[in-house]
Amino acid sequence: MRRSTARNVSLAAVAATVLAVGAAAPPTPAPASPPTPAPASAPVKEPVAVGFGGAVSSVDADASAAGIAVLRAGGNAVDAAVATAAALGVTEPYSAGIGGGGYFVHYDARSRTVRTIDGRETAPRSADASLFLENGSPIPFAEGMTSGLGVGTPGTPATWEAALDAWGTKSLKELLKPAERLARDGFVVDATFRAQTRANEERFRDFPASAELFLPGGELPVVGSVLKNPDLARTYEKLGRQGTRALYRGDIAHDIVRTVRNPPVREGATRRVRPGDLTIRDLATYETVWRRPTKMSYRGLDVYGMAPSSSGGTTVGEALNILEGTDVATLSQEAYLHRFIEASRVAFADRGRWVGDPAFEDVPVAGLLSQRFADGRACLIKDDAALTSPLAPGDPRHPVPCATTGAAAPTTYEGENTTHLTAADKWGNVVAYTLTIESTGGSGITVPGRGFLLNNELTDFSFAPAHPAVHDPNLPGPGKRPRSSMSPTIVLDRHDRPVLALGSPGGATIITTVLQTLTGHLDRGLPLVDAIAAPRASQRNQPVTDLEPALYDSPLRLRLEALGHAFRQNPEIGAATGVQRLPDGRWLAAAERTRRGGGSAMVVRPAGRP
Ligand code: GLY
Repeated sequence: MRRSTARNVSLAAVAATVLAVGAAAPPTPAPASPPTPAPASAPVKEPVAVGFGGAVSSVDADASAAGIAVLRAGGNAVDAAVATAAALGVTEPYSAGIGGGGYFVHYDARSRTVRTIDGRETAPRSADASLFLENGSPIPFAEGMTSGLGVGTPGTPATWEAALDAWGTKSLKELLKPAERLARDGFVVDATFRAQTRANEERFRDFPASAELFLPGGELPVVGSVLKNPDLARTYEKLGRQGTRALYRGDIAHDIVRTVRNPPVREGATRRVRPGDLTIRDLATYETVWRRPTKMSYRGLDVYGMAPSSSGGTTVGEALNILEGTDVATLSQEAYLHRFIEASRVAFADRGRWVGDPAFEDVPVAGLLSQRFADGRACLIKDDAALTSPLAPGDPRHPVPCATTGAAAPTTYEGENTTHLTAADKWGNVVAYTLTIESTGGSGITVPGRGFLLNNELTDFSFAPAHPAVHDPNLPGPGKRPRSSMSPTIVLDRHDRPVLALGSPGGATIITTVLQTLTGHLDRGLPLVDAIAAPRASQRNQPVTDLEPALYDSPLRLRLEALGHAFRQNPEIGAATGVQRLPDGRWLAAAERTRRGGGSAMVVRPAGRP
């Protein structure tokens, strides 16, 4: 990620700079006394851009620029998404990278269809429901978080390969080149990167490979300095040359397995770092899964999302169905927030009971997405009083209006990191791609000599059932995918043409961020960039609802508390990106104005004002 600068560079100039490999820096003032000069092609961050030829939106300007350069060179949205994701592996290494997994949602303009790739990490074959138990009790979350035990087989390289095999027009080697250069030449450290490093400093110090990479000279990286990752450049170069089998079967696979089974902790560290049981066979047999997307209709539009193993598509979809019975557009802001919070609460109650890896659980996807089920759940919501959490689930297999089924289980903890990118091309293809290594900094363990962090995705499993009397579909199992909240979403019109696509990081808050952004734009009439910027609330079937400061400090909070809502302040929820197809055929790319230091929206040929 890059520092947001106030440099007055047009997007056209930025794109020209990106194209001119090795060209001189744009004629802009240098930032105040950077310790190391910025690389030549330093693109500027803008939260919104409009134009033709395609669009890319991500949290990072270098990454968006990598995708735009691919589009300008004739690549399609899938090519651009892979190049952008690879660059994020360099500049957003604490959120995503080849040591993690994700979900790739693709709209094909020719067939007007949406298909998805499940590139979620998998548990080792030896895993069972006791993976995170010791003497019958769950181990502390922190011991799962920073461990080999929490590491799943990475799915991201296989996702790139599957996407390119199906839809790509360029080779992985070609698409990894910009990221390889970025890793070799370095990127400019911004305040967010430094803050994320500081949050990880203590555990990075316990792993020499992580400390060497992310604490140059033993210190936190200085804002404005250039951080290089030559090991990752070499890893990308190798993947480009040998294909992803280098990571799943070759010497990188052996390095991953060795690192997980015997985490390379510094001598004298007092931290207990539990090993994992990942094997070469686990890596060699990893497969992405083609999943039918979730589909539901909302106010005449079709909303496509990610099916289980992610809970994103079903939970966003159920909440939208619940809201559909209300004229959300005409509600006061207070009534809108109340309805949004309650719809989220109900949908999360059902998510907790019913959604897990479909290879292990009979997930009633159609039931969860049926309007009849949602209407029966919506009848629990009152205008003048908040529901209390935990709320018991309903039964989508046998929907009974206003009924709940069995005991109520609280929502289990999920970390709040990840990253999302959205891409579109001149042919009308669209990609919404969310990827992660789970916690900020993943497991904290860098594979020595390879330049990437390993995920701790298995901590997205429930360590133990959330309630002893309630079936938990998200317990660990052999080769099982932990339930995700990632919600890459594509919305089509009644002629199956793209309207918009979006997604966000944020663990379980991803679902509420996507829901709030969709309703903010589709119902409340906010331009996409303003729907993204709007202050967020997040209710996940918990006693308190998270509020960003602008809501927490507003009179709205007091009025909602009078209805029985309880709140806690959350400084920042999510970091969404999206693209929108405007009626005149232009693309609008949108990103955060301020969260995580602001996002980066770019188009190939800027045209007109946002
Ligand atoms: N690790 C974040 C998610 O899968 O939702």
